[in-house]
Amino acid sequence: MSHTLKIGLAGLGTVGISALKRLVSMQTNIAEKAGLAIDVRAISARSRTKDRGIDLSNFHWYDDPVALAKSDDIDVFVELIGGDSGSAEASVRAAIEAGKHVVTANKALIAKHGNALARRAEANGVALNFEAAVAGGIPVIKAVRESMTANSISRIYGIMNGTCNYILTRMEEEGLSFDECLKDAQRLGYAEADPTFDVEGNDTAHKLTILTSLAFGTEIDSESVTIEGITNITSADISAASELGYRVKLLGVAKKTQTGIEQRVHPTMVPKDSSIAQISGVTNAVVIDGDAIGSVTLAGPGAGGDATASAVIADIIDLARGLEVKPLGRPVEALDPFKKSEIYAHKGGYYIRLRVNDLHGVFASIATRMAEQEISLESIVQHKKRSKLKVDAELKGTGKHQDIILITYETTENRIHNAIEAIKQDGHIVDTPQVIRIARI
Ligand SMILES: NC(=O)c1ccc[n+]([C@@H]2O[C@H](COP(=O)([O-])OP(=O)(O)OC[C@H]3O[C@@H](n4cnc5c(N)ncnc54)[C@H](OP(=O)(O)O)[C@@H]3O)[C@@H](O)[C@H]2O)c1
Repeated sequence: MSHTLKIGLAGLGTVGISALKRLVSMQTNIAEKAGLAIDVRAISARSRTKDRGIDLSNFHWYDDPVALAKSDDIDVFVELIGGDSGSAEASVRAAIEAGKHVVTANKALIAKHGNALARRAEANGVALNFEAAVAGGIPVIKAVRESMTANSISRIYGIMNGTCNYILTRMEEEGLSFDECLKDAQRLGYAEADPTFDVEGNDTAHKLTILTSLAFGTEIDSESVTIEGITNITSADISAASELGYRVKLLGVAKKTQTGIEQRVHPTMVPKDSSIAQISGVTNAVVIDGDAIGSVTLAGPGAGGDATASAVIADIIDLARGLEVKPLGRPVEALDPFKKSEIYAHKGGYYIRLRVNDLHGVFASIATRMAEQEISLESIVQHKKRSKLKVDAELKGTGKHQDIILITYETTENRIHNAIEAIKQDGHIVDTPQVIRIARI
């Protein structure tokens, strides 16, 4: 390597163009920190003519990112195209095989192909850095992979999707519906035109699988995540949670259990006074529980051009400084195979909302079915009005639908499932029951 670290940058969208502008505008400052000049030599995107607010004439243009990845004129290939296949995958593989270091923000690619890519990177003696792939600008990869290596990590969890957190925050603060908040998120550029990937929890799942591997020294396993999104959360749930002292957050949680590792993404009720409950709007946060350090919370911007570019450039500077760490924190050969723990073994408290026809016999049925499953109830409340929860076991049936809300003490998913099935068989429930796990964190 010469006295200049030569960069090839593929993808000039939200993140790519921010990274490019920053690498150019802060060139001197970055060189001082890196101890080496960092020079973007070549770029690639789909449209050569699009106005990107920066003069691109000084950079060698490639229509094909794979050709750029193999170019003799670069040391580092920066992939900011996105997607778990196609040009992103092909160019990253080509760069690694050509002996180039790779920096990427692509969580989908790392979640799906991370084990194989890390193996090839090790074989070719190159780095594969992906700080920006999880929680955007928050330096969580470095924290888990490098700064917390003296810890045995028991759990890692967080809010890793700004779109979902924005929607849930607005629903709570303004009593709006999911659809209203989603529309606003799209108008403000916080949500994609097709928000499915975000609101159904898949984006969080990708990030979680990467953190799981780094935290527990296992292979990345993106097939073993239990995923539930936020589309079924109603303002009634949010308001009931609030009145009971909780907030609803879409959490990604990875935890060591006696039977294996639990990876789950789902709406979770967290106590209002917990650190994770304070994370509002598009902000992300990751909490890492280590045996030496205790609980560490990292919070900040999980997306956005500049914030994400900050992590991308830090990865590049690490390479200029000669800091190279195994992509998954240890040799791929030393990673344990992922052993999935059954979600049905998951233990915790539960919020259950049952919409019932008539209150006659409902409370007796609930009490019996819960007792059969040895589930203890912390509270059973009838949602009489939107703003007022009141226990009222003696209320006579009115012929209208009513919401009954149950809060359980710690039990297992399996028992909850069995109890609800039995209550359904008793014929009282008129709608799909809502079940939200409660995290005592
Ligand atoms: N946006 C964020 O806040 C954020 C945060 C964290 C991580 N990330 C990750 O960062 C990556 C980039 O995201 P982004 O939001 O910047 O995406 P984006 O705005 O959609 O930009 C994608 C870029 O890739 C280029 N591209 C697409 N197909 C290509 C191909 N076949 N050959 C060459 N260039 C191609 C596009 O070219 P044209 O411009 O010509 O269409 C565009 O410049 C993704 O992996 C994403 O998950 C993004």
